[in-house]
Order: sequence, then C-alpha cells, then structure tokens
Amino acid sequence: MMAAHGISTAFDLAGWSGQHLDLVEQALGQWVGRDAPAGLGEAMRYAVLDGGKRLRPLLVLAAYEAVQSGADGAAREAAPCAGMDQAALRAGMDQAALRAGMDQAALRAACAVELIHAYSLVHDDMPCMDNDVLRRGKPTVHVQFGEAQALLAGDALQAFAFELLTPDDERVAPAVQAALCRQLARAAGSAGMAGGQAIDLASVGLALTQDQLRQMHRLKTGALLQASVMMGAACGASGAAAHKALADYGAALGLAFQVVDDILDVVADSATLGKTAGKDAASDKPTYVSLLGLAPAQAHAQELLAQAQAALAASGLADTRALAALADMVVNRSY
Ligand code: IPE
Ligand code: IPE
Ligand code: MG
Ligand code: MG
Ligand code: MG
Repeated sequence: MMAAHGISTAFDLAGWSGQHLDLVEQALGQWVGRDAPAGLGEAMRYAVLDGGKRLRPLLVLAAYEAVQSGADGAAREAAPCAGMDQAALRAGMDQAALRAGMDQAALRAACAVELIHAYSLVHDDMPCMDNDVLRRGKPTVHVQFGEAQALLAGDALQAFAFELLTPDDERVAPAVQAALCRQLARAAGSAGMAGGQAIDLASVGLALTQDQLRQMHRLKTGALLQASVMMGAACGASGAAAHKALADYGAALGLAFQVVDDILDVVADSATLGKTAGKDAASDKPTYVSLLGLAPAQAHAQELLAQAQAALAASGLADTRALAALADMVVNRSY
C-alpha cells in the first residue's frame, strides 16, 4: 500500500488491530456493568462484550495515532489542543505523564463510542424498531433479557459513555473532556444517530431521493463514525488542514459504511453477518441497493473509498496507514 508522503510499506492491519483491540477489550471488560443492580449489568455486558468488529474504537485510536505522527508541526502549535498541552505543562506535568494522560483519553474515547454504538444496536433491534432476533451471532438483548431490560441496558450504556469521558484525572484537561462529550453527544443525538433512526422509521415504504437517503445514512450511521475519527484527533493536536482532511475522511467513510451495510444485507447470509440477512427488503426499507441497484451501489461505495483516501493524502499527516487500511476494510469487507 502507498501511504501519504510516499511511504511505501505493506501495513499489517490485522496485527495493528489485534494489539489495539486487546486494550479496548480489556478496558470494556473491566469497566462495563460491573456494579449494576438487578440483572442490568448482565444485559449491559451481553450487549457490549464478545462481539462486533469494533470499527469505531479502531478509528478513534488510528486517528489519535495519525495526529500524534505529526508532520504539520507549525499548524499543531496553533491548534486548540496544543493550548491544553501547555496548560498541563504549566501545571508541572512532564511530557511522559501528559502523553499517558492523552493515551488514557483516547482509550476512554474508543470505549465510549463503542458503548453508544452498542446501545444503538440494542434499541435498533427492539420490536418497536427493526424487530430483529439475531445480533453479533447471538439472540438480541431483548430476546435474551426482555424488552424492559433491553431498554434500560441501552439507557445505561449511553450514560456510561459520558461518564467514561469525564474521568477524575488531572492529566486530561477539562477542555478536552468537554470537547469529547460535545462531539459524542452531537453524533448520538437528534443531529446524528437518533435523528437518522427517526428518519429511517419514517421512511419505511417510501421511495427516497438519493439526497434524502444520503442524509438518512449520514445521520444514522455516518455521524458516529465521523465522530470516532474526530474524537481520536481531539485527543492529540492537529492543525486546521489535517482537521479538515480527517473530517472529510470520516464523512466519506461513514457514508460508505452504511452503503456497504445495505449491500451486505442483500448479498451475504445470516451466519456470515451474525444478524438476519434480507431484512431491509423484507421490511420495505429504502436502501442504496433499492434505490440504485446492486452494481451501482457497489460502485458508489468504491467512489466513497477513493474520496476517503484522497482526504488522507491531503491531510499532511506523516502516517495515515491505519486509517487508510480501515477505510479499505470498511468498503471491501464481507460482514
Ligand atoms: C451495524 O454496525 C449497524 C450499523 C450502523 C449499520 P457494525 O457492522 O459496525 O456492527 P458490529 O459492531 O460489527 O456488530
Ligand atoms: C442501524 O442501521 C443503524 C443504527 C444506528 C443502529 P441498520 O438497522 O441497517 O443496522 P443493522 O443492519 O440492523 O445492523
Ligand atoms: Mg435500523
Ligand atoms: Mg437494524
Ligand atoms: Mg442494515
């Protein structure tokens, strides 16, 4: 693979992901639902642990590492987060402690986006929404624990995501904590996932235009994926050009992700997906496949991948190989 700035090396995505996911799995296992009463913790842990591609945490960590890789040094001086670094340094913190604090912020951000995602899946599968019985190769949370517990598990996961972003850890500046909360709240709420899900439910049986479908997908799925990238970036320091490039990358990748989800619903089987295939057509949902047809939808996903890669090339960041490989995986995945 040819990465930005002409570094030509094969990137080992499986190795990179394995290392990073070990940290995420360990943290989630340690943090989620431990002390929740009356069976709620069990439902929360069932929803989050042992499954899922963990794409969103990987995007957080890849974006964090990309901005740490630097290269646009002058711009980094002017970035909002650079001010945070200086405040912490004035407070007497050495660089190693500061770096450990920001590593901790990135790990917490990675887990927080996964918690919001897992909660969105729990609610998406409920009878009042998509009414699905299979998720991540297991019975859905409401099938396993009942609807009320599923509703509460989703509620509790959402709240815990924000608790994770606001640790009592002086190495993570309050301004960074607030920025992370703001980005995640916006991506999860009415301007993001929840708003997109409302459009999704209101669109059953309708023939949307491509603009309307794009907007639905950008909100229900794209917003949280883009936020994953931008939250990772917010844990480091990036200049304006890199910030804009990462936002463009996240937007293209986020839309591509849902286009491919629509395609896989048609071309893959339930055992491979770990969720019920063919649900979109059965539920009369408008999708990129129903609107454009299969081959044009696949071609569109490839165009969006090219847009994501072009944005990385324009970022000026020294090492975007993990982000590039993740985009490739999103579009060329089989589940
Ligand atoms: C599925 O997301 C729901 C959508 C947003 C389309 P993923 O395909 O990332 O699900 P997991 O996390 O791997 O189970
Ligand atoms: C769900 O979209 C997006 C969410 C916000 C959870 P889908 O309804 O297409 O996701 P799947 O196919 O059930 O995973
Ligand atoms: Mg849905
Ligand atoms: Mg669904
Ligand atoms: Mg789907």
